Amino acid sequence: MRSKIVAGNWKMNKTYQESKTLVKELKKAIKEIKLDNTRVIIAPTFTNLQKASKKTKDTVIEVAAQNMCAMESGAYTGEISASMIKSIHVDLVILGHSERRAYFGETDESLAKKVDTALKNNLEIIFCFGEVLEERKNGNHFKVVEEQIKKALFHLTSEDWKHIILAYEPVWAIGTGETASPEQAQEMHAFIRELVAERYISDVVEKVSILYGGSVKPANAKEIFSKEDVDGGLIGGAALNAEDFMALVKAI
Ligand code: 13P
Repeated sequence: MRSKIVAGNWKMNKTYQESKTLVKELKKAIKEIKLDNTRVIIAPTFTNLQKASKKTKDTVIEVAAQNMCAMESGAYTGEISASMIKSIHVDLVILGHSERRAYFGETDESLAKKVDTALKNNLEIIFCFGEVLEERKNGNHFKVVEEQIKKALFHLTSEDWKHIILAYEPVWAIGTGETASPEQAQEMHAFIRELVAERYISDVVEKVSILYGGSVKPANAKEIFSKEDVDGGLIGGAALNAEDFMALVKAI
């Protein structure tokens, strides 16, 4: 059975103090919610990761890193390794976010390396991909998504796929207030599931969760989450306050 997942990507938001406050609020609010086969994940920045990991230890909230270096260790100034992330009891990492692709030069090829390093270090991966507006307008969105997934993930074994969560984030819908319609999300998610089905055994397809990301808010979440192949959301803006984020958890 596929897990339902609501994951909050805090991006470069929240100071140490603000992060502490938000974690506290989330811990309090989540006690009121009965979760059924649902995972709740937050991804604070590196400076707030250890504290968040510690403070959520005995709760249902899981913590993820937002990025990770492909190299294991050594002279890579400013980078954070997979083993460093694991050493603070964080077991998840977001890879391939469109902001990392657009502003920090990450490519399908460099992401394939990060994926390998993360799996080698027993990190579960939330792998992001999605087309830009131009590509959707040209009708190339399926082709683009197919390439992104194939190049970064199709060298993996079925066993590896147990540690993969997919996140379809159309770039034109991120932080713009413009969401893909529930039908557009469903159409792409069904396409992705079919793509995975053609390459892997049915066990992989049945278990892989596919999240939608891009301007998901309390007002539109229910409709998007109700679609058959949408297993949850990767949330930016609405993950930055407890009330909105919990509304999304309730919506699922
Ligand atoms: P928004 O929800 O702010 O559009 O961000 C989505 C996102 O990029 C999550 O990773």
